[in-house]
Amino acid sequence: MLDARLARAAHLLPALTAPPALDDPAWAALLDAATVQETQLFRAPRQLQRLAEALPDQLAVARAEGRALRILSAGCATGEEAFTLAAIAQQAALDAAPGTALEVLGVDVCRPALDAAAAGHIGPHLGAPLSSVPARYLPWLEGADGAPAPHAALRRIARFRRASLLALPDDLGVFDVVLCRNVLIYMTDAARAQVRAALARHLRPGGVLGFGPTDDAPGAGFARLGEGLYIHG
Ligand SMILES: C[S@@+](CC[C@H](N)C(=O)[O-])C[C@H]1O[C@@H](n2cnc3c(N)ncnc32)[C@H](O)[C@@H]1O
Repeated sequence: MLDARLARAAHLLPALTAPPALDDPAWAALLDAATVQETQLFRAPRQLQRLAEALPDQLAVARAEGRALRILSAGCATGEEAFTLAAIAQQAALDAAPGTALEVLGVDVCRPALDAAAAGHIGPHLGAPLSSVPARYLPWLEGADGAPAPHAALRRIARFRRASLLALPDDLGVFDVVLCRNVLIYMTDAARAQVRAALARHLRPGGVLGFGPTDDAPGAGFARLGEGLYIHG
């Protein structure tokens, strides 16, 4: 897969003369061609189940502070992770905190992936799109015709934005839950450390941070929740 991506991107390399700038057309095209968008609805369901168990506490804080519960999908690819998080949050709010406002933001560098996410297009990536979705969440993610389709309520709360995790804009604000899965694996040690520090800065004290199966635990200041999830502070 890496060879195929490098071959697709090779003709862009001569145009690159400066460090990566997201808005430089050659760098943007290279990032579109070289990044890997493998993803799936309810990828790693045990971790997501653990997150669902942690959400009532997060919702209670947001409600007590009179604001929306905010969730970040960092490296969201084509949006399946963000819509999964939106479904879990909607269900948790219905069960435990009806009426609490919800916001889910997906951030990525790949323009075609973000276009698919914004269109709510769920494609086959790692198998049949609905195969990992637990039955109670199917009404959020399955259309009337049985095809995968995020419910209108999820489309209303999920937003997508192009940004690099290596240079997250300050105006992203602070989140109650940050998930960064299957992204750090593609980075150098230095970039990984930089992204981890940036994600921690965008996490509310008491919020939940989640990583992928190959990622290290965050350092001091985080307690283990299990299944690759950590609580801040
Ligand atoms: C393999 S996908 C993972 C998608 C999803 N998080 C999941 O676990 O299913 C990795 C995504 O990270 C994105 N990515 C890689 N480096 C990035 C960076 N520096 N900033 C933002 N997104 C990045 C890629 O474009 C790709 O869409």
